[in-house]
Amino acid sequence: MTHNKTATSAYVFDAYGTLFDVHSAVAAHSNRIGRDAEAMSELWRARQVEYSWTYSLMGRAPDFWVLTQQSLDYAMARFGIQDDGLRTDLLTSYLKLGAYPEVPGVLRRLKEAGKQVVILSNGTQAMVQSAVQAAGLANHVDKVLSVDPAGIFKPSPRVYQLVLDSLGVSAEQVSFQSSNAWDAAGAGSFGFRVVWVNRRHLPPEYPFEFPSVEIDTLDALLQA
Ligand code: LAC
Repeated sequence: MTHNKTATSAYVFDAYGTLFDVHSAVAAHSNRIGRDAEAMSELWRARQVEYSWTYSLMGRAPDFWVLTQQSLDYAMARFGIQDDGLRTDLLTSYLKLGAYPEVPGVLRRLKEAGKQVVILSNGTQAMVQSAVQAAGLANHVDKVLSVDPAGIFKPSPRVYQLVLDSLGVSAEQVSFQSSNAWDAAGAGSFGFRVVWVNRRHLPPEYPFEFPSVEIDTLDALLQA
C-alpha cells in the first residue's frame, strides 16, 4: 500500500540507506578489515548520524563529509585499525556507494509517470552528486537538495522546508521516502506524507509522530 499517487507531485528520497547502501563501502574492503568489518561499518554509520544531531544541537553544522571522516576515524580507532591507505579507500568508496537494485527502475518509472524525483540529504551536494553519477542515476533524478543551505541537519524542520521552497509544492503533495526511522519521523512531523522503507525489517519507532506507510523496498511505490 502507498499513499494516493494522484495527489503526489514530488517523490523526495533520503539518500544514505534509502537509495544507497552505506555498508557497501566497507563491504568492498572487508577482506582488509576481517571479522570486525560489519560491526565497524555499523559503528561508522551510527556515529556519522549521531554527530549530525550533536552538532545541530550545538548550533553548528560542519559539512557531512567532515562528519563522515570524523566518524570513520572513530570507528577505525575503536576497532584498533591503523591503516591510512584503507581509510582513503573507504572514503573513496563512500563517494561511489552502490544503489539498491530496484532504485534505477523505480526512479525511472516515477519520472515517466510525470512525478518530480528529488533527493534530500544530509550529504553535501558534491557527495550526493558523486553517488548519483556512480550509480548511473543522473537521468532519473530531477534535483539533489543538500541540507547545506539550512545550516542544520535532519530532522530539523528547516531542512524539510528546503523541499517546499525549492519545488514550489505544498507538503501534502510530497511523498517522502526514508529507510531511517528518525528521518521518516521528522518528515512526518513536518507534514510530508511518509513512506518508511524498512529494508531491514526493524521494529517501529517514534509511534506518535510517525503515521507512515511501511514498505520493504522501493518497488512498492509502483504498486497500486
Ligand atoms: C541522508 C542520510 C542521513 O542521506 O541518510 O540524509
